[in-house]
Amino acid sequence: MRFSALITAVTHASLCFAFPPSYFERRTTLGTFSIDQMIDVNGAHAFQPPQSGDLRGPCPGLNAMSNHGYIPRNGIVLLADAITQSNKVFGLGIDASTAAGAMAVFGADLLAPGIPFSIGGRPTGLSGTHNQFESDTSPTRGDFYQFNGNNYDVQVRYFKELYDLQPQDPSANYNQAVLARHIKTRFQQSIAENPRFFHGPVQMAFSIITHLLVFGLMANHSAAQPDGFLQGDVLKSFYGIATASDGTLSYTHGHERIPDNWYRRPVSDEYGSVRAVPDIAALLLVAPEILAMGGNSNGTNTYTPLNVSSFTGGVYSAESLLVGNNAACFLFQALTILFPDVLNGVLGVVQGVVQGVVQGVIASLSSATASMLAGLTCPQLTSIDKSVLEQYPGYK
Ligand code: HEM
Ligand SMILES: *[C@@H]1O[C@H](CO)[C@@H](O)[C@H](O)[C@H]1NC(C)=O
Ligand SMILES: *[C@@H]1O[C@H](CO)[C@@H](O)[C@H](O)[C@H]1NC(C)=O
Ligand SMILES: *[C@@H]1O[C@H](CO)[C@@H](O)[C@H](O)[C@H]1NC(C)=O
Repeated sequence: MRFSALITAVTHASLCFAFPPSYFERRTTLGTFSIDQMIDVNGAHAFQPPQSGDLRGPCPGLNAMSNHGYIPRNGIVLLADAITQSNKVFGLGIDASTAAGAMAVFGADLLAPGIPFSIGGRPTGLSGTHNQFESDTSPTRGDFYQFNGNNYDVQVRYFKELYDLQPQDPSANYNQAVLARHIKTRFQQSIAENPRFFHGPVQMAFSIITHLLVFGLMANHSAAQPDGFLQGDVLKSFYGIATASDGTLSYTHGHERIPDNWYRRPVSDEYGSVRAVPDIAALLLVAPEILAMGGNSNGTNTYTPLNVSSFTGGVYSAESLLVGNNAACFLFQALTILFPDVLNGVLGVVQGVVQGVVQGVIASLSSATASMLAGLTCPQLTSIDKSVLEQYPGYK
């Protein structure tokens, strides 16, 4: 089988990889804990679930910020505010938030000044961005071709699989090593359950990054644990999950909640490229199969990896992606190359009316990815052969 041969090759390559498995346990502290990291959830920022007409979508962070009035409670937010507030409330790095925000314009109303977008709930919102920003193999959301297109609500079965990876005990930490185990399961589920599963470079990037954001942004911080600690109850709160008296988990749409006495990341240790690059590499050491881009070619369980060498004009191969920071290099480069291309499709629709705005978004994404790449030595990738993707029914 082509797939298992590839995995073997990739796993071998990973043996001489820069990050030993103990990486997750010995990450260096960059931040110094400060009491100001406590996030206010009272008064104007009290929890209030969405009222009729308020929009919520696939992102637990944006939903929670909306429920606490850090972004508008109706769920329609200006791009710049989503970026600023993600930084203030969760410590998402400005470079990473800008890249995420730029991607979000796929779901935005490009004609409106200031680029407001809905965080979900209508066709032009984040819930309707499949294969542009929204991707398959999310930590807790279904794939686009499953659940009648509901790719924005938590699927409790997937949440439970994550939740059950740790014992129900306050001393259990849902850290990046746990999320790396979860992504392995989710990837196999997409292959086995989604006939049109497509795992291209953009999808791979978002799948990895959304898994890393769970611990990266939801963990609680303290002087004793400045690198963060994510307890099961805190995870459930951020995901709008409750436990019934018989132990059954349930999700209520839009009830994502910031817990009382929750402390975000240290200001000096934002979750941006400095943190994400080594976390990506360490996750891939546990889950190297995620690097096998491809898709189901003819129904479930027909996963066919793409030829990375043909796709990248020989710059990378399946094996070389696992060496050093090559995976992170490839992800950021592929996003930079593919993003303007897809956006031009959107531009065609709006007839160039907002050329300036769109050019600005492309420029901010390019500078965000450039700053993420600045600290890395990367092979030069200048173009991608997209025709290699045509073999997958889930592409487009
Ligand atoms: C500009 C800011 C942001 C934008 C545009 C954004 C957008 C999105 C989108 C579109 C998704 C769905 C992706 C997919 O299904 O593959 C998503 C998922 C996710 N986001 Fe955000 N997000 C932002 C900020 C945040 C913040 C502040 C957090 C903090 C916790 C966060 C945590 C997550 C997580 C954990 C997921 C995965 C959800 C799951 O499937 O379990 N995001 N985000
Ligand atoms: C966060 O950690 C601090 C210090 O251990 C603790 O007092 C607080 O209750 C924790 N917050 C949550 C939401 O668990
Ligand atoms: C796709 O699968 C169907 C049934 O599983 C089979 O009949 C068909 O020959 C397959 N097509 C290709 C191109 O392999
Ligand atoms: C991938 O494509 C290259 C040419 O672009 C070819 O030399 C190589 O054999 C292919 N690899 C696989 C595994 O098919």
